[in-house]
Amino acid sequence: MFADSIGHARHMSVAPNGVVYVNTWSGKYYGNDKPHIGGFLVALRDTTKDGRADQIVRFGDSVQSGGAGGTGIALYRGNLYAEANDKVVRYRVGPTEVAPSGSKEIVVQGLPLTGDHPMHPFAIDSAGGLYIDLGSATNACQLKNRIASSPGHRPCTELETRGGIWRYDANQTGQRFSPKQRYATGIRNADGFAVEGSGKGLYATQHGRDQLAENWPRLYQPQVGASQPAEELLQVEEGGDYGWPECYFDTAQAKLVLAPEYGGNGGKEVGICANKRGPLAYYPAHWAPLALALTAGTEFPSRYAGGIFIAFHGSWNRAPFPQGGYNVVFQPMSGGKPSGQFEIFADGFAGGTKDPGKAEHRPAGLAFGPDGSLYISDDVRGRIWRVSYRGSAAVASRSRAESTSAPAVSQGGQSVKPVEPPEGINPNAGESPAGATPLPPPPPVPSGASGVTPAMLALGDSVYHGLAGGATCVGCHGADAMGTPLAPDLTDKEWLWTDGSLRSIEQTIARGVPAPKKHTGVMPPMGGAHLSQPQLHAVAAYVYALSQGGGK
Ligand code: HEC
Repeated sequence: MFADSIGHARHMSVAPNGVVYVNTWSGKYYGNDKPHIGGFLVALRDTTKDGRADQIVRFGDSVQSGGAGGTGIALYRGNLYAEANDKVVRYRVGPTEVAPSGSKEIVVQGLPLTGDHPMHPFAIDSAGGLYIDLGSATNACQLKNRIASSPGHRPCTELETRGGIWRYDANQTGQRFSPKQRYATGIRNADGFAVEGSGKGLYATQHGRDQLAENWPRLYQPQVGASQPAEELLQVEEGGDYGWPECYFDTAQAKLVLAPEYGGNGGKEVGICANKRGPLAYYPAHWAPLALALTAGTEFPSRYAGGIFIAFHGSWNRAPFPQGGYNVVFQPMSGGKPSGQFEIFADGFAGGTKDPGKAEHRPAGLAFGPDGSLYISDDVRGRIWRVSYRGSAAVASRSRAESTSAPAVSQGGQSVKPVEPPEGINPNAGESPAGATPLPPPPPVPSGASGVTPAMLALGDSVYHGLAGGATCVGCHGADAMGTPLAPDLTDKEWLWTDGSLRSIEQTIARGVPAPKKHTGVMPPMGGAHLSQPQLHAVAAYVYALSQGGGK
């Protein structure tokens, strides 16, 4: 452990003198919790060489100066670049400074901050090309975001300002965001970014879309929704179109197929996707790749040379099947192309439960230090680990890390073997949806709730946990309904939308929440499912009973 509790730590960059710079974030993604005192940027240095940062300096915008922090950060020619709200700013860092003493300059401003993906990770290449991810505002460019059976906008005009990578000049200040500087398109959210080893050329990750089964239950079984589509590693080229929103990458067929919003029929039709660019390699669905780092230095054994590390933040919408990700993966590469299967490099970040509301830590950033050790950041509790290697390279090259069954594919996606989630696709998994953790019995009937029966609460319990009706309440509100970063606690009697009565809880579930007050994303009507009247009534009664103290 290099540092702990530094805030919601996102991406990192390490200076040649070993100072680690971290951007931290705040806001809806973290339930609007109280941000750290001081600036959102953090400089960390280990002056005593004991593997722990002993000098920790916060700088940049704070809550008081109107800041909310950000994700993106990079060092380039003596300047530290960082995402700050709608801007990328830079600070001159003198060779002997830890935190910059000067004031910031605005490099780009006016970046969109709305919708599902308001973060702006970026990378800077050796020529000063500043590549900024502008993730999509929506899940699949539907007329109604995340609402069952809502078709896609034709054309998807959102692509003019979102769902792609924009290129600016890191050497210039005072630039403004506009649709004109779009560099590549069809990328739903490229959180992970790395410049290729040559200093030119980009790798980025693609977060595959959500809710195939929830929004298109006639075309996709719930287990297909949990295991489709793939997360992707892309080689980003100028003018490239990587397929969002019309296409998604099918893990079983290893190719881009037409999305249901654009006339797809459950993965059989390819249509225009034949002309879109596929990934270099792909990974299990919904793992949420949040950071990329190319192996640097010579500290790690030679088998890691030239490879890519990917931090997976972890899934929410595999429910009711077990969640996945919450790990750091190694992708072997040779000559810029995948040269083997990916491996889990580091796991266990989540602790006992892989669930967005329960995970103790979630990998969010990766960076190599000048000595070749790897830093991993966590945006739940603000921990940073430093992974170093001591030992003989010859020994290490023989011991393989745990390997998964998913293959890397060549460009164009001629494949081989379907990707399966590492936990496998267990047809019976729904019978114990929380995985290893047995679920508590349904709550008792609250006193004074007329018409609520134990049988109704048992049905409501099943609906809530995705065992009946196909809704994924657990994915957003958590297995124990005590909330996740995506949706509020339903057990605490602090209501945002209902007055706490059974009737108004039922109305809210039926209508959904198109414009949440404290969370990003939306709650689709009935949680995105087609619940029957008895199922709707039962799940409302279940939530009502939990709020009356029955669940704890
Ligand atoms: C895609 C994520 C998502 C899913 C799936 C989902 N919800 Fe929600 N839910 C939300 C969000 C977001 C809100 C609004 C929070 C806000 O306003 O900040 C919400 C609000 C609610 C509320 C009102 C809470 C209040 O404070 O007034 C209830 C009740 C509720 N959800 C129940 C359910 C049930 C039951 C299901 C399953 C049938 C479900 N939700 C599925 C995201 C989700």
